[in-house]
Amino acid sequence: AKVAILISGSGTNMAALLYAAKHPECPYEVVLVGSNDPAAAGLQLAKAEGIATFAHPHKGMERAAHDAVMDEAIRAADAEYVALAGYMRILTPEFVAQWEGRMLNIHPSLLPKYKGLHTHERALAAGDSHGGASVHLVTAELDDGPILGQMSVAIIPGDSADTLAARVKFAEHQLYPTILSDYVSRYDNPDWLLAKVEALAL
Ligand code: GRF
Repeated sequence: AKVAILISGSGTNMAALLYAAKHPECPYEVVLVGSNDPAAAGLQLAKAEGIATFAHPHKGMERAAHDAVMDEAIRAADAEYVALAGYMRILTPEFVAQWEGRMLNIHPSLLPKYKGLHTHERALAAGDSHGGASVHLVTAELDDGPILGQMSVAIIPGDSADTLAARVKFAEHQLYPTILSDYVSRYDNPDWLLAKVEALAL
């Protein structure tokens, strides 16, 4: 399966997805890394790893027009799936609809807890025993789509938002390639898909 990854920042989840794809039995290949920020550090790594990259700044553009530019690049690369990996843009419902059931996101909390930003601060402030990460299908509501997989991470005494974020990243880097692989390898199996859609009540 051909996957496009969208990033805005450092791209450590992108790196985890790229390196998992080097395994001969990985069921997906990364055909494009795209960004709204030409300076996103992850783009350099993707390029150095021989992956096609694309960047188009969103500044001064209507949201729908920028989404359309990204959509065109993703399609030109022949991608069948989109993996958001720290892509810091709210997507238009039209763009989301184009990729319904084929766009995944990773979020640094145990959803449905802590949608949006500052997830680790909120988990600490609430006195939670665990933080974690979730991979979910993208729907028009922010961080709200059907959850495909989660990994919990223990919070330890003395944790700050930064130390917890760093530990959750380890979990993210395991979780995302595993769930993406699972999802794409089963997507074309009609029985599995039907069961999944029913279970998720899509
Ligand atoms: C990750 O914490 C991810 O869960 C969130 O954005 C962050 C991206 O980090 N959506 P990185 O650029 O992959 O290191």
